[in-house]
Amino acid sequence: MKFFIDTANLDQIREAQSLGVLDGVTTNPSLMAKEGIRGEANIAQHYIDICNIVDGDVSAEVISTDLKGMIKEGEKLAKLHKNIVVKIPMIKEGIQALKYFSINNIKTNCTLIFSPGQALLAAKAGANYVSPFIGRLDDISNDGLSLIQEIREIYNNYKFETEILAASIRHTMHIIDCAKIGADVMTGPLNSILGLLKHPLTDSGLKKFLEDHKKNN
Ligand code: E4P
Repeated sequence: MKFFIDTANLDQIREAQSLGVLDGVTTNPSLMAKEGIRGEANIAQHYIDICNIVDGDVSAEVISTDLKGMIKEGEKLAKLHKNIVVKIPMIKEGIQALKYFSINNIKTNCTLIFSPGQALLAAKAGANYVSPFIGRLDDISNDGLSLIQEIREIYNNYKFETEILAASIRHTMHIIDCAKIGADVMTGPLNSILGLLKHPLTDSGLKKFLEDHKKNN
């Protein structure tokens, strides 16, 4: 399972990278705005800064919703760095854009996936990743993990190579559950990743080992 961090915060990306287990980064316009990154040039530079920290796929989202605009923006983003993956929204023009980028060898991540049918369409159009938003489904009393399961089943049936990127991860248990189902990638906040470290028996066990070592030395 690949681990991506879902943030545009450079310090958090550096901290996750320092663990040695980070495979990539996802961003979106809201995450960029949260960091106060505004204006085309600053946004482009920020993507380059992220790519310089992590040697892995970095999703950069288009703002356009028309086909021509998405293609123009996506091609520009892809030229910023070899690791940029163009993030395309799940709309009709998005499907057309995914197909265009797939033919032109530009990697894509189809975002805002909330149903198995959307994931099927994105895979047919040649998306490299699909991003089902499990936390946002849980927020409205829908089962986000069931969606991951359904997409896994469909992709397995037809051997689609599109990777399932479980997104909108809210906590550590989401990561474990997605790993059990067989999501290819998870993207979550730093805390959800650090949560994997925690167990009280590890802490008390280590404390005891160190105390016992002190007694004998
Ligand atoms: C995915 O790529 C999105 O950036 C993200 O996971 C959305 O998560 P949220 O629902 O926490 O905003």
